[in-house]
Amino acid sequence: MGRLNDKVAIITGAGSGIGKETAILFAKNNAKLVVTDINTDMLNEVVASIEEFAGKSISIKSDITKEDDVQKIVDVAVKEYGGIDILINSAGVSARNAAPENAPETDVWNNVLDVNLNGTYLMSRFAVPVMKQGGGSIINLSSIIGLVGYPTGLNAGAFNPYPPSKGAVVQLTKNMAVELAPYKIRVNCICPGFLKTNLTKAYWTDKEKLKFLEDRHPMGRLGDPIEVAFTCLYLASDESSYVTGIALPVDGGYTAQ
Ligand SMILES: NC(=O)c1ccc[n+]([C@@H]2O[C@H](COP(=O)([O-])OP(=O)(O)OC[C@H]3O[C@@H](n4cnc5c(N)ncnc54)[C@H](O)[C@@H]3O)[C@@H](O)[C@H]2O)c1
Repeated sequence: MGRLNDKVAIITGAGSGIGKETAILFAKNNAKLVVTDINTDMLNEVVASIEEFAGKSISIKSDITKEDDVQKIVDVAVKEYGGIDILINSAGVSARNAAPENAPETDVWNNVLDVNLNGTYLMSRFAVPVMKQGGGSIINLSSIIGLVGYPTGLNAGAFNPYPPSKGAVVQLTKNMAVELAPYKIRVNCICPGFLKTNLTKAYWTDKEKLKFLEDRHPMGRLGDPIEVAFTCLYLASDESSYVTGIALPVDGGYTAQ
C-alpha cells in the first residue's frame, strides 16, 4: 500500500537534495517512479538507494530546458506505466552554479530563468495533456526567496535572477491551479527556507554564513531536505485532495517574521 498506492510520479532534479529525498520517500510509499536529472552519477546513486529496500524506479538523464528531453521523460512514463499522476519539479539552480565562473551576467540570468522557470513550465506543458486523462498533482519547488528578497548581509546582488525565477514559479503555480482545477489536476508550490543541500553548500560550509542564516530562521537552524520531501508526500497524496494553488512555506518560521 503506502500513501501513494501505485501512483506514477515523475521527479526532476532527483539526483540531489529535495528531489533525491522525495524520490526515496515516494519509493517507500509505493509510487511508481520516473527519476530524472542532468547528473547521471548522482541519479545512479539514487536508484541504488531505492533498490536497497527493493523499491522500483526508472531513471532517465535529462536537461529539463530541452524540449526533446522533456518529451522523452513523459513518453517513458506513459510507455512504462500508462500515465502520470504526480509531477515534482525540483530541478533548480542558483546564480552561483548556473554558469561557469566569470560568465557574463546575462548568461547567468538566462540560465537561472531557463532551468528554474522555463524548465518547470516545459515539464508541466508536456505532462499536463497526459495528466488531464485522470487528474493528478503537480508540485513546484519555489522558495522563500520567491516570496521575499534575499536577506540583507548575504550580498546576493540586486539583479540576482534567483528571486524573480522563484517568484514567477509561484504565479505559474497559481494560474495553472485555476485553469487545471476542472481537470482534477491540483497544482501547488513549496517555498522552503534555507536547507542543507548541494545548492547551498557555499553557505553552510562557511561557519560565519551558516550562523548568519541560522539566526534568520526563528527555529534557529537550516532545514533538512527530508522535511520538504514529507511536504511533497502530503501534497502528492490524496490527503491533500482539496488543496490547490498554494505557496506553502516550509521555512522554520522565516516568512512569519
Ligand atoms: N536548498 C535550499 O535551501 C532550497 C531552498 C528553497 C528552494 N529550493 C529549491 O528546491 C529545488 C531543489 O533544490 P536542492 O536544494 O535539492 O538543490 P540540489 O542542487 O541539491 O539539487 C538540484 C538538482 O537539479 C539538477 N539539475 C540542475 N539543472 C538541471 C537541468 N537543467 N535539468 C535537469 N536537472 C537539473 C541538479 O543536477 C541537481 O541534482 C530547487 O528548485 C531549489 O531552487 C532549495
